[in-house]
Amino acid sequence: MHLYGTQSVNEKGHLVIGGVDSIELVNTYQTPLIVYDIELFRKRARAFKETFQAEGIQAEVAYASKAFSSIAIYEVAKEEGLSLDVVSGGELYTAVQAGFPRERIHFHGNNKSFEELTYAFSEEIGCIVIDNFLEIDLIQQIAYERKQEMNVLIRVTPGVEASTHDYITTGQEDSKFGFDLKNGQTDDAFYQLHNDPYVKVLGMHCHIGSQIFETTAFRYAAEALMEKMIAWREQYDFICPVLNLGGGFGIRYTEEDTPLAPEKYVEEMARVVLSMTREYQYPMPEIWIEPGRSLVGDAGTTLYKVGSMKEVPNTRTYVAVDGGMSDNIRPALYDAEYTAVTANKMTEPQHTIVTLAGKCCESGDKLIEQASIAEPEQGDIIATFCTGAYSYSMASNYNRLPRPAVVFVENGDHQLAIRRETYEDLTRLDVPFQTVKRGDRV
Ligand code: LLP
Repeated sequence: MHLYGTQSVNEKGHLVIGGVDSIELVNTYQTPLIVYDIELFRKRARAFKETFQAEGIQAEVAYASKAFSSIAIYEVAKEEGLSLDVVSGGELYTAVQAGFPRERIHFHGNNKSFEELTYAFSEEIGCIVIDNFLEIDLIQQIAYERKQEMNVLIRVTPGVEASTHDYITTGQEDSKFGFDLKNGQTDDAFYQLHNDPYVKVLGMHCHIGSQIFETTAFRYAAEALMEKMIAWREQYDFICPVLNLGGGFGIRYTEEDTPLAPEKYVEEMARVVLSMTREYQYPMPEIWIEPGRSLVGDAGTTLYKVGSMKEVPNTRTYVAVDGGMSDNIRPALYDAEYTAVTANKMTEPQHTIVTLAGKCCESGDKLIEQASIAEPEQGDIIATFCTGAYSYSMASNYNRLPRPAVVFVENGDHQLAIRRETYEDLTRLDVPFQTVKRGDRV
């Protein structure tokens, strides 16, 4: 059994997170419940920041908050001196509600609307990551109308695409995001922007994939962007002050996953940038990164209560819990794998293999095909690990299940970060049907 961060087992045989008994949390907040180990989040954030400091590199570590967005996590990110990557007006609004320092907010997205961009200007955020030609027009229009400056990065697809263990390099990339680095689009974008009196190009951005375990693809990407920066110096006498290499650093969901320490990715990318700047006598840019999963993923644990069970003779036993694809769509959507334990029976053998099923009306609503837990009984509390990234943020109300509560634990304390949805919440947007006679409707 692999425990994460501050997790331990107490004398009652209960799983403890952040110094708090998980069963006590269940008694206080009910289930399903997502618990964040805030000490682990801070540790991950500091590891990234300290690696840059150790290398003497100016950097910004921006939390890619699509992984888990809430006012409380933005407040912790602010405390840790992180920057923030938001991808919608909604995430930006949440950051504003959290009082997040505007100059450290970066706005992403492949189809930002005029209204969203105007909102970003009115909040005077730190930078917009420009994704496409329409956005260039919109940003220039807004900047001229408001007579307001805005920093931008140009998002490019560098022809390197990475998944967990592999990567491919392609001349041209089939992606909905960003400007192609190799077919001239990136140069055209830069040309349209670089003499703009209001729009200030800070540099380039790329993001090559997610849950990546190897560093070659990151090195290739850094190299490709540096080459373009060097070319722009020749052509336009322009120096990029910032190089943003995105996120995507992998984490350990199961024992098959063998990620590198987060620092390792940073070191490898930094090495490429340092050596190329030396070789070409290019001023060292700031390096920005955008980890999402690797900051919050293993800090999250979901607690469920066991309900019904069904044995399919000679096949499997289904153990159903009181949540499922509505609070974690990743197994159904990506065949993502997780591990689980019986949180109230941590000192008992956890060798019973069952299929952990959700309660949604969908056969594919299985959280773990082969979970190894204690001999199951109704009322047991199951903890699924590593659910901090892309679970709550992708949660839905399918079957009108209320979304779970989220709590933060740290140093023996617990606090609510997102309250559980109520039935009233579920109907708050509904408008009752109004019977009208034909022709009455205007
Ligand atoms: N920066 C950009 C521009 C991104 O698009 C993403 C993720 C990140 C940073 C953060 O990547 P991370 O460090 O979290 O891997 N829903 C999927 C993941 C989608 C990732 C989208 N972009 C999942 O559940 O695996």
